[in-house]
Amino acid sequence: MVEGNTVANTLKKILDELEEGDLNNPFLDAQLLMTYVLNVDKTYLFVHRDQILEQETVDKLMDLVKKRKKGYPLQYIIGKQEFMGLDFYVEPGVLVPRPDTEILVESIIDRVKAMGHTGNKINIVDIGTGSGAIALSLAYYIKGAYIYAIDISDKALNIANKNCKDIGLEDRVVFLKGNLINPLEKFHLDDRINIIVSNPPYIKSNEIAQLQTEVSTYEPKLALDGGDDGLDYYREIIPIAKRYLINRGILAFEIGYDQGDSVSELMKSEGYVEIDIIKDLAGMDRVVIGKIQKEN
Ligand SMILES: C[S@@+](CC[C@H](N)C(=O)[O-])C[C@H]1O[C@@H](n2cnc3c(N)ncnc32)[C@H](O)[C@@H]1O
Repeated sequence: MVEGNTVANTLKKILDELEEGDLNNPFLDAQLLMTYVLNVDKTYLFVHRDQILEQETVDKLMDLVKKRKKGYPLQYIIGKQEFMGLDFYVEPGVLVPRPDTEILVESIIDRVKAMGHTGNKINIVDIGTGSGAIALSLAYYIKGAYIYAIDISDKALNIANKNCKDIGLEDRVVFLKGNLINPLEKFHLDDRINIIVSNPPYIKSNEIAQLQTEVSTYEPKLALDGGDDGLDYYREIIPIAKRYLINRGILAFEIGYDQGDSVSELMKSEGYVEIDIIKDLAGMDRVVIGKIQKEN
């Protein structure tokens, strides 16, 4: 083995350090930190195992490793998260898009396909858009989708706008600032929206502190806190969504693992039909999706 600050030795040093933290995947984190600082891809690390790194590079890496070890989200360090095959820029102040949320996006794409969609205009609203992950991936994968993406946070909207430009979807996505669906008021879209989607804050207020440090300490509370029982946003969105949805328009939510029955019941009591609860790969409830029945 070559001595000194080689790629392989430094990777091992980083891994040893990260393994002392409370992280889910220190090996992957070590690789990603290194590819980020060296500005290379993962293959490079294997092919150039014996390359000697400058001390300055190692110092920079070890500074980031210290941050990561304390739970600072990797995605905030490297400035991105992949979602639905697209790269989303993220920074502190916006929720890092989660792989589980892809289930919500996929369930909508499946329903749109099942309706025999051929690219005609579909109006979609995304409430609490954050980085724009849901809104922009729906616009990217559904031809003819026109998206109104709403958030109450200026920070989130700035980041979502940047992502929209980077992906090149400015002609089909508009970002609106305000509370829940209120910013739609001025567009006169009653009975004209085909799909309303939301991944709202749904963590019970008193459970936020118990989440992993990287979530509880570093991600925005505004993106997490769903009130005493976690259901505050569903209670507000389900009745007001009816005003904007077309007859048999879709309402789809991401939900917490124990909220499938409560959210389905809330939807049923407001006249939604064909409600499905979709599970994630861990077998937990993750999405509730249904249609509003306005006419018989
Ligand atoms: C759980 S995050 C979801 C972010 C993004 N859609 C995703 O799935 O990665 C919830 C988002 O709702 C926004 N939000 C919180 N309260 C809101 C409100 N009253 N009206 C609109 N957006 C709100 C937060 O700023 C945050 O961006």
